[in-house]
Amino acid sequence: MSAPRSRVPTLVLLCAALACASDSDGDGIGGSTGSSGGAASTESTSGGADETSGAAGSTSGTASTTGASEATTDAADTSGTTGVVGEDLDMTPEDFVCVLDWELVRRFRITNLLGHLDEALAVAESPDGGVYPVGTVIQLIPGEAMVKRAVGWSPETNDWEFFSLATSADGTEILARGATRVVNQFGGNCFDCHSAAEPQWDLVCETDHGCAPLPIGPDLIEMLQNGDPRCP
Ligand code: HEC
Repeated sequence: MSAPRSRVPTLVLLCAALACASDSDGDGIGGSTGSSGGAASTESTSGGADETSGAAGSTSGTASTTGASEATTDAADTSGTTGVVGEDLDMTPEDFVCVLDWELVRRFRITNLLGHLDEALAVAESPDGGVYPVGTVIQLIPGEAMVKRAVGWSPETNDWEFFSLATSADGTEILARGATRVVNQFGGNCFDCHSAAEPQWDLVCETDHGCAPLPIGPDLIEMLQNGDPRCP
Protein backbone atom coordinates (compact mmCIF):
# COMPACT_ATOMS: atom_id res chain seq x y z
CA MET A 1 0.00 0.00 0.00
CA SER A 2 1.64 3.23 -0.99
CA ALA A 3 1.94 5.86 1.64
CA PRO A 4 0.28 9.13 0.86
CA ARG A 5 2.78 11.80 0.08
CA SER A 6 1.66 14.59 2.30
CA ARG A 7 0.28 12.57 5.12
CA VAL A 8 1.74 14.37 8.09
CA PRO A 9 0.87 17.93 7.14
CA THR A 10 -2.62 16.87 6.30
CA LEU A 11 -3.10 15.07 9.55
CA VAL A 12 -1.70 17.98 11.47
CA LEU A 13 -4.18 20.16 9.69
CA LEU A 14 -6.94 17.82 10.68
CA CYS A 15 -5.83 17.92 14.26
CA ALA A 16 -5.81 21.67 14.20
CA ALA A 17 -9.27 21.74 12.70
CA LEU A 18 -10.67 19.39 15.25
CA ALA A 19 -8.78 20.64 18.28
CA CYS A 20 -7.01 17.36 18.62
CA ALA A 21 -4.74 17.44 21.62
CA SER A 22 -3.71 13.88 21.87
CA ASP A 23 -0.87 13.47 19.47
CA SER A 24 2.38 12.99 21.26
CA ASP A 25 3.97 10.36 19.13
CA GLY A 26 4.59 12.56 16.17
CA ASP A 27 2.78 10.56 13.58
CA GLY A 28 -0.11 12.92 13.44
CA ILE A 29 -2.54 10.22 14.34
CA GLY A 30 -3.49 10.82 17.89
CA GLY A 31 -3.83 8.25 20.45
CA SER A 32 -1.21 5.59 20.08
CA THR A 33 0.38 4.07 23.13
CA GLY A 34 -1.27 5.98 25.83
CA SER A 35 -0.80 9.40 24.36
CA SER A 36 -4.40 10.25 24.61
CA GLY A 37 -4.92 12.29 27.69
CA GLY A 38 -8.31 12.99 26.30
CA ALA A 39 -9.33 9.39 26.00
CA ALA A 40 -12.97 9.51 25.41
CA SER A 41 -14.84 9.48 28.61
CA THR A 42 -18.25 8.06 28.55
CA GLU A 43 -19.59 10.77 30.77
CA SER A 44 -20.04 13.17 27.99
CA THR A 45 -21.94 16.34 27.62
CA SER A 46 -24.52 14.53 25.63
CA GLY A 47 -27.93 15.55 26.65
CA GLY A 48 -30.56 13.07 25.76
CA ALA A 49 -28.23 10.21 25.10
CA ASP A 50 -28.92 8.32 28.26
CA GLU A 51 -30.38 4.95 27.85
CA THR A 52 -33.85 4.79 29.16
CA SER A 53 -34.85 1.34 28.19
CA GLY A 54 -33.78 -1.69 26.40
CA ALA A 55 -30.98 -4.12 26.76
CA ALA A 56 -28.30 -1.50 26.60
CA GLY A 57 -29.70 0.36 29.54
CA SER A 58 -29.11 -2.32 32.02
CA THR A 59 -25.74 -1.13 33.12
CA SER A 60 -24.83 2.37 33.98
CA GLY A 61 -21.97 4.16 32.39
CA THR A 62 -18.52 3.66 33.68
CA ALA A 63 -17.11 7.09 33.92
CA SER A 64 -13.47 7.18 34.62
CA THR A 65 -10.60 5.20 33.35
CA THR A 66 -7.04 5.40 34.42
CA GLY A 67 -5.98 6.37 30.98
CA ALA A 68 -6.22 5.63 27.34
CA SER A 69 -5.21 2.05 27.84
CA GLU A 70 -8.46 1.09 29.39
CA ALA A 71 -11.58 0.95 27.35
CA THR A 72 -14.71 2.44 28.72
CA THR A 73 -18.03 0.89 28.11
CA ASP A 74 -21.40 2.38 28.50
CA ALA A 75 -23.68 -0.15 26.98
CA ALA A 76 -24.26 -3.45 28.52
CA ASP A 77 -21.81 -6.03 27.60
CA THR A 78 -23.54 -8.96 26.13
CA SER A 79 -23.36 -11.05 29.21
CA GLY A 80 -26.31 -10.19 31.29
CA THR A 81 -28.31 -8.52 28.62
CA THR A 82 -31.68 -9.83 27.85
CA GLY A 83 -33.59 -9.82 24.66
CA VAL A 84 -30.57 -10.51 22.50
CA VAL A 85 -31.41 -12.78 19.61
CA GLY A 86 -29.19 -14.92 17.43
CA GLU A 87 -25.66 -14.21 16.29
CA ASP A 88 -23.57 -11.47 17.84
CA LEU A 89 -20.25 -9.81 17.18
CA ASP A 90 -18.34 -8.78 20.30
CA MET A 91 -15.27 -7.07 18.87
CA THR A 92 -11.80 -7.52 20.28
CA PRO A 93 -8.97 -5.12 19.43
CA GLU A 94 -7.53 -7.75 17.10
CA ASP A 95 -10.70 -7.77 15.03
CA PHE A 96 -9.95 -4.22 13.93
CA VAL A 97 -7.44 -4.20 11.09
CA CYS A 98 -6.15 -1.94 8.32
CA VAL A 99 -9.24 -0.24 6.94
CA LEU A 100 -7.93 -0.58 3.41
CA ASP A 101 -8.54 -4.32 3.67
CA TRP A 102 -12.26 -3.67 3.64
CA GLU A 103 -14.65 -2.79 0.84
CA LEU A 104 -14.88 0.86 -0.08
CA VAL A 105 -18.42 2.14 -0.56
CA ARG A 106 -18.43 5.78 -1.52
CA ARG A 107 -16.40 7.27 1.35
CA PHE A 108 -16.58 4.55 3.98
CA ARG A 109 -15.05 1.13 4.53
CA ILE A 110 -17.29 -1.81 5.29
CA THR A 111 -16.91 -5.47 6.13
CA ASN A 112 -18.91 -8.17 7.83
CA LEU A 113 -17.11 -10.50 10.18
CA LEU A 114 -19.95 -13.00 10.37
CA GLY A 115 -20.10 -13.80 6.68
CA HIS A 116 -22.86 -11.42 5.66
CA LEU A 117 -20.87 -9.07 3.48
CA ASP A 118 -23.09 -9.47 0.43
CA GLU A 119 -26.11 -8.53 2.47
CA ALA A 120 -24.30 -5.58 4.02
CA LEU A 121 -23.18 -4.31 0.62
CA ALA A 122 -26.70 -4.70 -0.72
CA VAL A 123 -27.98 -2.41 2.03
CA ALA A 124 -25.16 0.05 1.44
CA GLU A 125 -25.96 0.19 -2.28
CA SER A 126 -29.72 0.29 -1.94
CA PRO A 127 -31.33 3.62 -2.81
CA ASP A 128 -33.98 2.83 -0.22
CA GLY A 129 -31.63 2.09 2.67
CA GLY A 130 -32.26 -0.88 4.89
CA VAL A 131 -31.02 -2.55 8.03
CA TYR A 132 -27.41 -3.68 8.09
CA PRO A 133 -26.91 -7.33 9.08
CA VAL A 134 -25.34 -8.38 12.37
CA GLY A 135 -21.57 -8.51 12.13
CA THR A 136 -21.27 -5.42 9.91
CA VAL A 137 -18.32 -3.16 10.71
CA ILE A 138 -18.14 0.31 9.17
CA GLN A 139 -15.34 2.83 9.43
CA LEU A 140 -14.91 6.24 7.89
CA ILE A 141 -11.61 6.98 9.60
CA PRO A 142 -9.32 4.55 11.43
CA GLY A 143 -10.14 6.00 14.85
CA GLU A 144 -13.89 5.39 14.82
CA ALA A 145 -16.08 2.41 14.03
CA MET A 146 -19.67 1.27 14.26
CA VAL A 147 -20.42 -2.42 14.65
CA LYS A 148 -23.76 -4.15 14.27
CA ARG A 149 -24.44 -6.27 17.34
CA ALA A 150 -27.07 -8.93 17.91
CA VAL A 151 -30.71 -8.11 17.39
CA GLY A 152 -31.96 -6.62 20.65
CA TRP A 153 -28.51 -5.65 21.98
CA SER A 154 -29.43 -1.97 22.04
CA PRO A 155 -32.77 -1.11 20.45
CA GLU A 156 -32.16 2.61 20.90
CA THR A 157 -29.11 2.53 18.65
CA ASN A 158 -30.52 -0.02 16.19
CA ASP A 159 -28.06 -2.45 17.80
CA TRP A 160 -25.05 -0.44 16.67
CA GLU A 161 -22.08 -0.38 18.99
CA PHE A 162 -19.86 2.70 18.59
CA PHE A 163 -16.12 2.61 19.09
CA SER A 164 -13.40 5.17 19.62
CA LEU A 165 -10.10 3.59 18.64
CA ALA A 166 -6.42 4.41 18.85
CA THR A 167 -4.42 2.91 16.03
CA SER A 168 -0.71 2.42 15.66
CA ALA A 169 1.63 0.10 13.80
CA ASP A 170 1.26 -2.22 16.76
CA GLY A 171 -2.46 -2.56 16.28
CA THR A 172 -5.66 -1.22 17.69
CA GLU A 173 -6.58 -0.06 21.13
CA ILE A 174 -10.22 0.37 22.10
CA LEU A 175 -10.54 3.70 23.91
CA ALA A 176 -14.28 3.60 24.37
CA ARG A 177 -17.16 1.46 23.22
CA GLY A 178 -20.88 1.36 23.80
CA ALA A 179 -24.25 2.51 22.60
CA THR A 180 -25.38 6.05 23.39
CA ARG A 181 -22.59 7.55 25.45
CA VAL A 182 -19.46 7.05 23.42
CA VAL A 183 -17.71 10.23 22.43
CA ASN A 184 -14.94 10.60 19.91
CA GLN A 185 -11.55 12.03 20.69
CA PHE A 186 -12.84 15.49 19.99
CA GLY A 187 -15.71 15.27 22.43
CA GLY A 188 -18.48 14.58 19.96
CA ASN A 189 -21.08 12.01 20.90
CA CYS A 190 -21.40 9.40 18.17
CA PHE A 191 -25.04 8.59 18.74
CA ASP A 192 -26.11 12.22 19.00
CA CYS A 193 -24.91 12.84 15.48
CA HIS A 194 -25.75 9.51 13.93
CA SER A 195 -29.27 9.35 15.34
CA ALA A 196 -30.12 12.31 13.14
CA ALA A 197 -29.98 10.08 10.08
CA GLU A 198 -33.39 9.45 8.59
CA PRO A 199 -34.79 6.11 9.73
CA GLN A 200 -34.28 4.19 6.51
CA TRP A 201 -30.51 4.74 6.71
CA ASP A 202 -29.96 2.76 9.93
CA LEU A 203 -27.92 5.50 11.61
CA VAL A 204 -25.47 5.71 8.74
CA CYS A 205 -24.89 9.40 8.02
CA GLU A 206 -22.96 9.73 4.80
CA THR A 207 -23.44 13.15 3.28
CA ASP A 208 -27.14 13.32 2.62
CA HIS A 209 -28.95 11.26 5.25
CA GLY A 210 -29.85 14.11 7.59
CA CYS A 211 -26.84 14.31 9.94
CA ALA A 212 -24.92 17.46 10.61
CA PRO A 213 -21.87 17.39 8.35
CA LEU A 214 -18.37 16.58 9.55
CA PRO A 215 -15.78 19.35 9.38
CA ILE A 216 -13.62 17.20 7.13
CA GLY A 217 -14.04 16.57 3.45
CA PRO A 218 -13.44 13.59 1.19
CA ASP A 219 -9.77 14.38 0.62
CA LEU A 220 -8.95 14.24 4.31
CA ILE A 221 -11.05 11.15 4.82
CA GLU A 222 -9.21 9.36 2.04
CA MET A 223 -5.91 10.57 3.41
CA LEU A 224 -6.71 9.24 6.86
CA GLN A 225 -7.71 5.87 5.46
CA ASN A 226 -4.55 5.66 3.36
CA GLY A 227 -2.52 6.71 6.38
CA ASP A 228 -3.90 3.99 8.66
CA PRO A 229 -0.76 3.00 10.56
CA ARG A 230 -1.89 -0.61 10.75
CA CYS A 231 -1.66 -1.06 7.01
CA PRO A 232 1.41 -2.78 5.63
C1 HEC B 1 -20.48 15.84 14.59
C2 HEC B 1 -21.32 14.70 14.29
C3 HEC B 1 -20.66 13.33 14.36
C4 HEC B 1 -20.04 12.74 15.43
C5 HEC B 1 -19.80 13.31 16.81
C6 HEC B 1 -19.65 11.44 14.98
N1 HEC B 1 -20.00 11.25 13.70
FE1 HEC B 1 -19.62 9.61 12.57
N2 HEC B 1 -20.20 10.60 10.92
C7 HEC B 1 -20.83 11.82 10.90
C8 HEC B 1 -21.10 12.20 9.51
C9 HEC B 1 -21.78 13.46 9.03
C10 HEC B 1 -20.60 11.15 8.72
C11 HEC B 1 -20.59 11.07 7.20
C12 HEC B 1 -19.37 11.84 6.70
C13 HEC B 1 -19.05 11.67 5.25
O1 HEC B 1 -19.43 10.66 4.64
O2 HEC B 1 -18.39 12.54 4.71
C14 HEC B 1 -20.08 10.16 9.65
C15 HEC B 1 -19.57 8.94 9.23
C16 HEC B 1 -19.29 7.91 10.09
C17 HEC B 1 -19.07 6.54 9.69
C18 HEC B 1 -19.19 6.02 8.28
C19 HEC B 1 -20.66 5.64 8.01
C20 HEC B 1 -21.59 6.82 7.98
O3 HEC B 1 -22.37 7.00 8.93
O4 HEC B 1 -21.54 7.63 7.01
C21 HEC B 1 -18.82 5.83 10.84
C22 HEC B 1 -18.55 4.37 10.94
C23 HEC B 1 -18.87 6.76 11.94
N3 HEC B 1 -19.15 8.02 11.44
C24 HEC B 1 -18.67 6.42 13.26
C25 HEC B 1 -18.66 7.34 14.30
C26 HEC B 1 -18.29 7.01 15.66
C27 HEC B 1 -17.93 5.64 16.14
C28 HEC B 1 -18.34 8.17 16.37
C29 HEC B 1 -17.99 8.40 17.81
C30 HEC B 1 -16.75 7.79 18.29
C31 HEC B 1 -18.78 9.21 15.45
N4 HEC B 1 -18.97 8.65 14.22
C32 HEC B 1 -19.02 10.52 15.80
C33 HEC B 1 -21.14 12.59 12.00
C34 HEC B 1 -20.62 12.38 13.26
